[in-house]
Amino acid sequence: MLGKGIGIDLGTTSVIIYVTGKGIVLNEPSVVALYTGYEKVVAIGSSASEMVGKNPDSITVIKPMNDGVISDLSITDKMLRYYIQKICGNSIFKPRVVVCMPSTITSLERRTILDAVTAAGAGSACLIEEPLAGAIGAGLDISKPYGTLVVDIGGGTTDVAVITMGSIAISHSVKFAGNKFDQAIIKFVRNKKGIIIGERTAEEIKKKIGCAVPRPVEIAINAKGKDYLSGMPKSFEITSDEVYKALRYPLRKICDGIREVLEDTPPELAADIASQGVLVTGGGALLYGMADMIKKRTGVETVIADDPINCVARGTGIALQDSSILENNGYNFTSRDEIIGLYDEQW
Ligand SMILES: Nc1ncnc2c1ncn2[C@@H]1O[C@H](COP(=O)(O)OP(=O)(O)OP(=O)(O)O)[C@@H](O)[C@H]1O
Ligand SMILES: [Mg+2]
Repeated sequence: MLGKGIGIDLGTTSVIIYVTGKGIVLNEPSVVALYTGYEKVVAIGSSASEMVGKNPDSITVIKPMNDGVISDLSITDKMLRYYIQKICGNSIFKPRVVVCMPSTITSLERRTILDAVTAAGAGSACLIEEPLAGAIGAGLDISKPYGTLVVDIGGGTTDVAVITMGSIAISHSVKFAGNKFDQAIIKFVRNKKGIIIGERTAEEIKKKIGCAVPRPVEIAINAKGKDYLSGMPKSFEITSDEVYKALRYPLRKICDGIREVLEDTPPELAADIASQGVLVTGGGALLYGMADMIKKRTGVETVIADDPINCVARGTGIALQDSSILENNGYNFTSRDEIIGLYDEQW
């Protein structure tokens, strides 16, 4: 790992890891399974995710990141250490690590992340905001005095930020993103069809036929759930128009968030955004018609970044390869000793 760096996108839905010289080496769900009542880990990542909704009482499946915030610090710590050790192995060379954090992170969460990464083998670590990494990952030169509006639609939150000269000028985070789309589908199917479905089925429906604008030709799929009244297993058909109806509310909330930031943006930066448009990153950007919907609701040209799910992790990789991107914009790497010293002074 000599001279190498690791970039981590610590997301509500998944942890994506980029290693310099290799690219993206890991993409695993942010899920941990534990023995109920103990802190002992049963599984982390994909194998833990397969247990969601199917686990016996003796096992608890936890998603330690919720709505873009760390809801369980000690489990997040275990998950981060596991992934870093998986990448670093027993290497004696300690890599530099850049971690992308949810925009609403608290000081305690910051410390936990820095602590976990350095304890797990990082020589030094640096935290950067998700939309900034997304913009770098999309290939934008963030250092110019030019306003760029980035909208990152993840699993837990949609982060909207205006970036100029390497920093975030204005930002807003709404708790409406991929998970809320799934919840809206669950609610729709229960209310309109009398069938209860799980999160995984709802996500599958969203990915297969979901849309942010009506599809030119309506499509449908069959899915399975449980009859609300009889409790018996039941198959049902759902169409893209129905999913569109279900998603209208969370989509409107996302557009309200974008409009709020646009309203607060100073005129010169707003003029840049008007000519360059909105850049959308994150897995939610893959919903059919997302760019068209944002353009229609905000009046601003909208582009989806290439490979939007990996954009943030790719941004951390680019920042690691060209450290001037971080240094010139006030982001510093801190070593374990510095982290302990720094926080002990504050606490
Ligand atoms: N093809 C698709 N169509 C619609 N949604 C999709 C598609 N592929 C992935 N998603 C959704 O993208 C979301 C995950 O995106 P992403 O990996 O950017 O989130 P995250 O970074 O883990 O979350 P956050 O940034 O909120 O912490 C999930 O809700 C997932 O269902
Ligand atoms: Mg994310």
